[in-house]
Amino acid sequence: MPCSDRDRRAEVEPSIYAADFANLGAQIEALLDAGARAFHVDVGDGRFIDSITFGPVVVRSIAPIVAARGGELDCHLMVSEPERHFEQIKAAGGTSVTFHVEASADPPAAIRLARDVGLGVGVAFNPETPVASAATDAEGADLALCMSIRPGLSGQAFMPSALERIAELRRLLPASVHVQVDGGISAANAAAVRAAGADLLVAGSAIFWHDDLAAAYRGLCERVELGNVTTVR
Ligand code: DX5
Ligand code: ZN
Repeated sequence: MPCSDRDRRAEVEPSIYAADFANLGAQIEALLDAGARAFHVDVGDGRFIDSITFGPVVVRSIAPIVAARGGELDCHLMVSEPERHFEQIKAAGGTSVTFHVEASADPPAAIRLARDVGLGVGVAFNPETPVASAATDAEGADLALCMSIRPGLSGQAFMPSALERIAELRRLLPASVHVQVDGGISAANAAAVRAAGADLLVAGSAIFWHDDLAAAYRGLCERVELGNVTTVR
């Protein structure tokens, strides 16, 4: 059974920011074959983060490939005024948007807007942003995203301080809200991230910067399974 099946307790999401964009469709197909279901799509505007990444044009190209296999595009908006982009993401075929609490003037309104547009929704917290108010900030959202790097680039090292923040989010949020982690996830830390309480693990370089993407993906899934523990809430 692939680790992305809905009835499994955790999921690894390949982050296409680390992909080879000359071979993006083939790389996504290989990961779908390996069992991946949700793909993480990093939209960056050169303002909220220094880098300009990609946006709805790329979402539009890959959405049919992913949707044909029952998959989803989880769009991480590392942009200022994220609400301005929800409709375009939806129209391009995105499944959900995760916006940064630091970038939105009114997170509850942004959550409502995403729902109105017909998108799933998450709220992201940068490493230096306290998560103590997460229960309010992420009320009504599907997930809370704990950044374990400063957002901007694939290939950075995991910040160990994220483990405590993951556990805090898991304690603060209802069981129905996923705790997602993004940044520096690798075979070396995936089990610990899972054990801390995360159930959605985003991985870019740990998958795409390997020759055999499917093997790298499956290896991470195995590590996540090793981290399956009963979390005390
Ligand atoms: C960067 C992005 C991440 C990135 C993760 O800010 O949000 O999703 O692709 O890449 P790795 O897993 O290499 O840290
Ligand atoms: Zn991301």
